[in-house]
Amino acid sequence: MKKKQSNFSGQVGFVLAAAGSAVGVGNLWRFPYLAAKDGGGLFLLIYLVLVVTIGFTLLTSDIAIGRKTKKSAIGAYTELAPKWKFLGILTFFVPVLIMTYYAVIGGWITKYGVVYLTGQASAAAQDGYFTAFITSPVSPVVFALLFMAVTAFIVYNGVEGGIEKVSRFMMPILLVLVIAVASYSLTLSHTGADGETRTGLQGLLYYLTPHTEGLTIHRFLQISLDAMSQLFFSLSVSMGIMITYGSYVKPDVDLNRSISQIEFFDTGVALLAGAMIVPAVYVFSGTEGMGAGPSLMFISLPKVFDAMGFAGTVVGILFFVSAIFATLTSCISVLEAITANCMEIFHTSRKKTVLVLSVIYLAASAVIALGYSVFYFEVQLPNGSAAQLLDIMDYVSNSVMMPLISLLSTILIGWVLKPQFIVEEMEKGSGKFTRKALYTVIIRYVAPIVMLILFLQSTGILA
Ligand code: PFF
Repeated sequence: MKKKQSNFSGQVGFVLAAAGSAVGVGNLWRFPYLAAKDGGGLFLLIYLVLVVTIGFTLLTSDIAIGRKTKKSAIGAYTELAPKWKFLGILTFFVPVLIMTYYAVIGGWITKYGVVYLTGQASAAAQDGYFTAFITSPVSPVVFALLFMAVTAFIVYNGVEGGIEKVSRFMMPILLVLVIAVASYSLTLSHTGADGETRTGLQGLLYYLTPHTEGLTIHRFLQISLDAMSQLFFSLSVSMGIMITYGSYVKPDVDLNRSISQIEFFDTGVALLAGAMIVPAVYVFSGTEGMGAGPSLMFISLPKVFDAMGFAGTVVGILFFVSAIFATLTSCISVLEAITANCMEIFHTSRKKTVLVLSVIYLAASAVIALGYSVFYFEVQLPNGSAAQLLDIMDYVSNSVMMPLISLLSTILIGWVLKPQFIVEEMEKGSGKFTRKALYTVIIRYVAPIVMLILFLQSTGILA
C-alpha cells in the first residue's frame, strides 16, 4: 500500500479541520430544536454529561485508530483485526450515503444565503416559499451542483492546501458570527397580537431552565436517546471521518488536548446556536414556533428575520453565511473520508480519485435534489415517519448504520483488542491521557449497552 504523505500542519490545523467536520447543520438546526422540545436545561445537562463521557470515548477511539494505523476506515480496521474488515467496509458506506444528500442541503442553505444577500427577506418569509423552492426541478439542482463542485475543489487541493486552509479561515469567522447573532437575539423584545410582550432574555431562560414538570422515567429515557443520537451525529464519529482525519495527525501532536478542544468547539457552537435561535423564535412566535430540522431553518427562521424588520436582513445574512461555512467544512470531511478510502483501495492519486468521485456525486446530488419534484415519492420508515429520498438516505446512514458501527467498534476495542491499545496511542508524543480510567470503563461496559439500546430504538425494534 502506498504510504500517505498528507498531513495537517499541526495541532491547530487538525483541531480546526475536525471541528469543521463536527460543526454542521446538526449544531444549527437539530440541537436547538431538540433542546426546546426536550425540556431545555434538562436536555442540555444530559447532553453535556454524554459529551464528556460517551462522546469523548467514541471520538478518542476514532482519532487514535486513525493516527495509529495511518489509514482510513477500511484499511485501518483490516490492519487492526483482519476478521473485522467488514466493519471498515460498513463504516465506509456511511459517508458514501451521506455524500448523496449533504450537498443538497448545502445547496438549500446557499440559496437562502443568496436570498438574504439580495434583500428578499420578506419573500422568503411567505408561506409556501420553501416548498415552492425545493419542489422546483431546476433551482435546487443548480445550487446542489454548485455546492458539490466547491466541495470537490477543496478536497482536490489536498489536506493541508485545501481542507486545513479552508477550515482555518472559516471556523473562527463562524464562531464570531454565531456569538454576534446570539448576542443580538438576547436584546430582542416584541409585543405580539395577543398584547403580550416577550423578550430575548425570557427566551434564554426558557432554553436554559431544566423543565422537569411531569417528567416520567420513559420520557427521561427518550430525552437521553435523543441526546445520544444527536451527540454522535454532531461529533462526526462512527462514520470513518475522524479515522481519516486522525490518520493525518503527526505523531508529536497531543491528542488528549486536541480531543478536548474539538469537543469544546462542537458543543460550544451547539449551545450558542441554541442561544441565537431559541430566544429569537420565542420572542416572535412563542414556544410553538420551533420547527424540526429544515422547517426550523427555512420556514420558522425566515419569519422571525422578517419580523425583525431591516435588521432581519443583516441577521439573515450573518446566519446563513455561518450556516454555509458550517455545512461546507462538514461536507468536505465527508468527501475526504470517501476519497481517502478509495485512494487506499485503488492505489490512485488524489486528483484522479476526486475527479471520478465528483462525477458520481454530481449525478447523485442532482437525483436527490429532484427527490421533491421529478422523483417524488413517499414511504413510511420503520420509526413511523414519512420519508422522501433524502430522508431515506439519512435514516439508513444515521439511525441504522451509525449506532450499529459504534456498537461493533466498542466491542472490537473494548473486548477484542483491549482498551490499552488506544491508551498507548493517546500517550504517545507529548500527551498524557487524563481520562484513561473513564475511557476504559465506558468503552468496555457503558458504550456497548447504550449503543445497543440506541440501535434497537432508532430502528423501531424497541418501540
Ligand atoms: N457533524 C455534522 C453536524 O453536526 O452537522 C454532521 C455530519 C458531518 C454528519 C459529516 C455526517 C458527516 F459525515
